[in-house]
Amino acid sequence: MNIRRWFGILLFGCFILPAGLFAQDEAQNEEFPNKEENALCLKCHGNQVYPMPVDGTGETVLLKMCRGDRIDTVAYYKGNHGTFTCTDCHSYEYTTFPHNPNLRLEQMPSCLDCHDGDPAVEKYHFESIDEEYRKSGHANLDSTLFSCWSCHNPHSFRLAVRTDINISALVKYDNSMCLNCHVNPVNPDYYLGGGLDLIVAKHTWLPKTENHFRNVRCIECHAKINENVLVPHNIVKKEDAVKRCVECHSTDSRLLHTLYKYQPQQARQTKGFVNSVISGQGYVVGANRSILLNRIGIVLVICTILGIGIHTTIRIILK
Ligand code: HEC
Ligand code: HEC
Ligand code: HEC
Ligand code: HEC
Ligand code: HEC
Ligand code: HEC
Ligand code: HEC
Repeated sequence: MNIRRWFGILLFGCFILPAGLFAQDEAQNEEFPNKEENALCLKCHGNQVYPMPVDGTGETVLLKMCRGDRIDTVAYYKGNHGTFTCTDCHSYEYTTFPHNPNLRLEQMPSCLDCHDGDPAVEKYHFESIDEEYRKSGHANLDSTLFSCWSCHNPHSFRLAVRTDINISALVKYDNSMCLNCHVNPVNPDYYLGGGLDLIVAKHTWLPKTENHFRNVRCIECHAKINENVLVPHNIVKKEDAVKRCVECHSTDSRLLHTLYKYQPQQARQTKGFVNSVISGQGYVVGANRSILLNRIGIVLVICTILGIGIHTTIRIILK
């Protein structure tokens, strides 16, 4: 290797590579022009501690930020509302600290305040989802404590079912929305006590409970199927939840109407296989229907009958 090549490598390593990294950084900032403004809030809300000015001294002390007021910055920018500035939803008055206590009375916008009748998001059917939600048991809870935001964290929610190809990651993400309250000890408002063991204990009739929780979403059993929406939102009374195994372990598995509804319909029809859609990610006993296997089966049966027939005829003739 000659000296010029070494020089070239050195030049690339020292200048071009870092320049490329900076360029990427800039591209990211371009995508999120809100980053700079949000940093004013996130320097406190994105950290475990925040600087509190001490009266009249010009000094600051570090105080602990309550867990509930902390925001995961990375998740924020990955979310569907990652292009928002904090003050798009919150009062501009929050830019001063200490915050005015009256701001707590501020009414937060609901999903429909922005998305009602918006043609850009027509495919999600917000109105139908809203209707469904109103029928669910959760809607009877105090509305200041429970709303769409209780599952759709305003600072991190992102669509998963339309974007995640990996079903286990999707199941984990969607179930985390429920488990956040149903097993979470740091959410005392709703903590029903006991951790995952408790929720498993409530489902003892279901064999391999934790395995099921890793492979199907809570809403598969707890929400009523509605063909108009991709994600059913009517969480029915616990007595009406799915308990019959064949609802999933059958050829017309309800999973096809919910969890796997978005998977290519074509793949299902041509392969005629529930498990072909699920392929590589799990196997639902009883949900098989392979058209090819069916045909091979029929051919085998016919061959067997023919074989026996020919064999018998020959024996009769020879006798
Ligand atoms: C100097 C640190 C600091 C900055 C900067 C800051 N906050 Fe806060 N914020 C806090 C602390 C501490 C609390 C909890 C105590 C309180 O409510 O005052 C809080 C509470 C809040 C709350 C919850 C109030 C409630 O109902 O409990 C909201 C919403 C909020 N901040 C939004 C913002 C927004 C938006 C910005 C940026 C425009 C911002 N904050 C900037 C420290 C800060
Ligand atoms: C899409 C609208 C939206 C955006 C953007 C938004 N928030 Fe919020 N925020 C909300 C809603 C709604 C609540 C009340 C949540 C609830 O009722 O469960 C909330 C609550 C809060 C709270 C109180 C703690 C909590 O989770 O209840 C803080 C603190 C807060 N937001 C800070 C911020 C900061 C800082 C930003 C910017 C980085 C921001 N928010 C951006 C909608 C938003
Ligand atoms: C303050 C207005 C506002 C509120 C409140 C709001 N959204 Fe949005 N939402 C928007 C805007 C604007 C966009 C487009 C953002 C973009 O493209 O960067 C969006 C994007 C989305 C998207 C992605 C759409 C797509 O096709 O990319 C989804 C899903 C969504 N919002 C769901 C919700 C849900 C669920 C709620 C309530 C829990 C909610 N939004 C509350 C304004 C809002
Ligand atoms: C009990 C929890 C819960 C509540 C409450 C809830 N949602 Fe959802 N929502 C979910 C889950 C889980 C998903 C699936 C997210 C994913 O995987 O993309 C979802 C998805 C959505 C989607 C995207 C659907 C699609 O076709 O991709 C929209 C829009 C939506 N919810 C709107 C709302 C609105 C509006 C409300 C309040 C009226 C609400 N949600 C309340 C759990 C909830
Ligand atoms: C914000 C917290 C919270 C979230 C998130 C949440 N729940 Fe709940 N859920 C509750 C509370 C509170 C109750 C009422 C408990 C009671 O009355 O004992 C409840 C009740 C229920 C019940 C019993 C309903 C009945 O009427 O018999 C079911 C089933 C349930 N939730 C399932 C779910 C599922 C599935 C999800 C996720 C899609 C979810 N929950 C998300 C707080 C939550
Ligand atoms: C295979 C279907 C199925 C799945 C998956 C499932 N559940 Fe259930 N769940 C049920 C049935 C059925 C009941 C009613 C049990 C009974 O009658 O004893 C129930 C009961 C409950 C209750 C009420 C418990 C009580 O007695 O108060 C809650 C809360 C609950 N489930 C939450 C969840 C959560 C959270 C998940 C996801 C991690 C989940 N479930 C997954 C079928 C299911
Ligand atoms: C909501 C749909 C659903 C319901 C209801 C359901 N299952 Fe399953 N079950 C699944 C899925 C999906 C898998 C695949 C898990 C995997 O890939 O390992 C599975 C796997 C299993 C397995 C294999 C577990 C393993 O570790 O290999 C058994 C056994 C099973 N289910 C029994 C039952 C019985 C018994 C019932 C009724 C009491 C039932 N299931 C109800 C969806 C369901």
